[in-house]
Amino acid sequence: MSDEVKQRKIEHVSIALGQDVSATQMANWHDIQFVHQALPEVDLDEIDTSVTFLGHTLRYPIFMSSLTGGHPDVTSINRNLARAAEQYGLALGVGSQRAAIVNPEVAASYAVTRQYAPNAFLIANIGAPQLIVQSRHSAFSHEHAQQAIDMIGANALAVHMNSLQEAAQPEGDRRSVGEAAALKALTAELGIPVIAKETGAGVCREQALLLRDCGVAAIDVGGAGGSSMSAMEAARSEARGDERTKNIGLLFRDWGIATPICVVEAGTAHLPLISTGGVRNGLDIARALALGATLVGMGFPFLKAASESYEKVCELLETVVAEMKVAMQLSGASSIADMQHTDIVVTGETRNWLTMRGFEEQLKGMAQRRWHIYNAG
Ligand SMILES: Cc1cc2nc3c(=O)[nH]c(=O)nc-3n(C[C@H](O)[C@H](O)[C@H](O)COP(=O)(O)O)c2cc1C
Repeated sequence: MSDEVKQRKIEHVSIALGQDVSATQMANWHDIQFVHQALPEVDLDEIDTSVTFLGHTLRYPIFMSSLTGGHPDVTSINRNLARAAEQYGLALGVGSQRAAIVNPEVAASYAVTRQYAPNAFLIANIGAPQLIVQSRHSAFSHEHAQQAIDMIGANALAVHMNSLQEAAQPEGDRRSVGEAAALKALTAELGIPVIAKETGAGVCREQALLLRDCGVAAIDVGGAGGSSMSAMEAARSEARGDERTKNIGLLFRDWGIATPICVVEAGTAHLPLISTGGVRNGLDIARALALGATLVGMGFPFLKAASESYEKVCELLETVVAEMKVAMQLSGASSIADMQHTDIVVTGETRNWLTMRGFEEQLKGMAQRRWHIYNAG
């Protein structure tokens, strides 16, 4: 089992870097349009990009999404990400720590993050399917979760929800009954905040409310439209000659709720939200903030940059921050809080979905936030 998990970690990284495993159905970020301000009372260089997340102040609302660890060959990726997280005051997640819980020899590939980011907001990671008994393994105990936290001196623990990925994995965990109860027991026990994190299929309104009942402190909506874990597993299944799971992986490549929709749906729970899934530039980041996200996560872009060098990660960050600031200035927002209250018009598929799901009034409100203030004043 321990070699199997370790091998899977390196395969995920090499497949993501070597093949196109993004969803073919995009997240439709272009459906979120800003109401341009012709005379914005905002200086580009004076914009305040800081944000408070779970009691910590971060310099940027950007989350370097949970990606890797668990194999010596990925240590340099986590090191490059950690150096940038420290330099830019960002939140950084590590990939699933199951590999090191079953095989402590690979713990250093995760621990490197705290070593190089002594002050950053680090997020540990375990899977919801591992919280319950599966046919091939027993349930992780709360001590195992604590082990993951201690391994990187984490400020929060992400529990990833990845039923689709498991279903598309030849060796995947098939059971999910009891995950919510196990999550609730875990949040009650742990001394640090727990973030419920989808991995590409998204979180709808009802599941967000369930997660709130489970006691999570924040939700990473992990919506569809970016990296597809299903496509990634299809590639692994193909290499193993497992036709059945390969076909499941391909068929469900686009399964899930697009990320911008998730941010609105999950907003019903009134918890801090991380918007991850298909975010590819600073304009997408701005759009996610305007929809109500507190942090915006990117996975693949950081993976690619960090696999090259620390400097590439810094370059990527400088680029997306500059882009985000332009969107903020042109929307008349001088802070992240302003950006979360700026006017946006939601169009296209995103609007269709949200209208069908009963969010019509909310969409109207988002388009007229300033008008209401104007009239009131
Ligand atoms: C190679 C790779 C490995 C990943 N491993 C994990 C993981 O172990 N735990 C987790 O919660 N998410 C994992 N993810 C999901 C990412 O955190 C993120 O949700 C996903 O990549 C979507 O963001 P993107 O479209 O910007 O890539 C992984 C993603 C990739 C590409």
